[in-house]
Amino acid sequence: MRPLFLAVFGGLAIVLVAVSAFLLLRERPTGLPPSGTQVIVEDANLIGGAYVLTDENGNRFTEADALGRPTAIFFGFSHCPDVCPTTLYELSVLMGQLGADADRLNVLFVSVDYERDGPEEVAAYTSVFDPRIVGLAGTAEEIATATSAYRVYYAKVPLENGGYTIDHTASVYLMDRNGRFVGTLAYGEDMAVRLQKLQALIADA
Ligand code: NI
Repeated sequence: MRPLFLAVFGGLAIVLVAVSAFLLLRERPTGLPPSGTQVIVEDANLIGGAYVLTDENGNRFTEADALGRPTAIFFGFSHCPDVCPTTLYELSVLMGQLGADADRLNVLFVSVDYERDGPEEVAAYTSVFDPRIVGLAGTAEEIATATSAYRVYYAKVPLENGGYTIDHTASVYLMDRNGRFVGTLAYGEDMAVRLQKLQALIADA
């Protein structure tokens, strides 16, 4: 029984590998970089895309308004007790370290808290950290579209006092001047590493 068992499974494994290889080779169009590179490109294309939001002045703001300059974009909410104020404060420190180069960068804060954060709230909140950080707000549908484009997770969590907080993705997304995803700044990541990433993003622009 045992050798037969192994032979059957060994045969199945070989068939699976062959089918996978066939599918991979078949689906990779010609003229593209080697598959390792292509995976990265495909992942990059999964993050970012079209959105329509409202800026601090009540004007319509879309992904097109961020083009031409590299962008650091972060999703959170103004009532956030920890991740958002820490992230925005650290972004403001990094902007200070970038000096004049910070003016070549869009820094966007999108509130996923469409019930409490409108243009005035995101304006007041972001100006606490750095007036150059642009606060963006949207309706439930607009926030759903923007977060879906960026693969951002957010979920309302009821509090005992009757209010709510929001769990959300803590990463800052870095996009190049053409709106293509190039990487993230992780929450709690070494500040020197984050500064290097922002400098590289600006230098590539
Ligand atoms: Ni937060």
